[in-house]
Amino acid sequence: MPITTCIFDAYGTLFDVGAAARNAAAEPGREAFARDWPQIANDWRLKQLQYTWLRAITGNHADFWDVTQDGLDWALEASGHSGDPELRERLLQLYWELEAYPEVPAMLSALKAGGMNTAILSNGSPAMLDGAVQSAGIGDVLDDVLSVESVGIFKPASVVYDLVESRFGCARNEVLFVSSNGWDAGCAAGYGFTTAWVNRGGDPVDRLPAKPDHFLEDLTGIPGLAGV
Ligand code: LAC
Repeated sequence: MPITTCIFDAYGTLFDVGAAARNAAAEPGREAFARDWPQIANDWRLKQLQYTWLRAITGNHADFWDVTQDGLDWALEASGHSGDPELRERLLQLYWELEAYPEVPAMLSALKAGGMNTAILSNGSPAMLDGAVQSAGIGDVLDDVLSVESVGIFKPASVVYDLVESRFGCARNEVLFVSSNGWDAGCAAGYGFTTAWVNRGGDPVDRLPAKPDHFLEDLTGIPGLAGV
């Protein structure tokens, strides 16, 4: 089946989640944070994702903004920075206004010019996603922004991936699902989407029952994969 619909994960895929800590570290007066930020950014992301999976497994949902704050609090405490509430607030503010990767606007424009449906499918809460889409200026080249909040459970629960068919009325094999998270790409492949894993960090492939169909280093190859 030809691809009709391109669906994107948000955090780490369209939006650079490392930018919040990286940009804060470059600000004046943050010398101590500047030494530790790569570990903090890594722990923040890892804990944020672990908490989504644990909340999904235990049926104890909280929205992604709460989980993002919980992950940050763990990372700041682990690195000895939990006594700096101004730093915490700044990191959260920067997370709300994350930058998109540089190739994102042209890539989405090419998909729209080629007649594709385009949307985000994310763990993010609607308000968080709205903040990121607005600050990246990509609202015009997205048909929709789908949030797990409408089903109350995080990825990779299959009811989340079901949101694509409900919104666009397309078969699973007409969907190109794009994620930088190896586990998300693997689980979406198992669900039946054609998937592209954007592996910017050169990570090993996740050992899950299904593997992504395509492996990319960035998003520039997406229009070609979609056939536009
Ligand atoms: C998302 C997370 C998984 O946007 O990056 O859904």
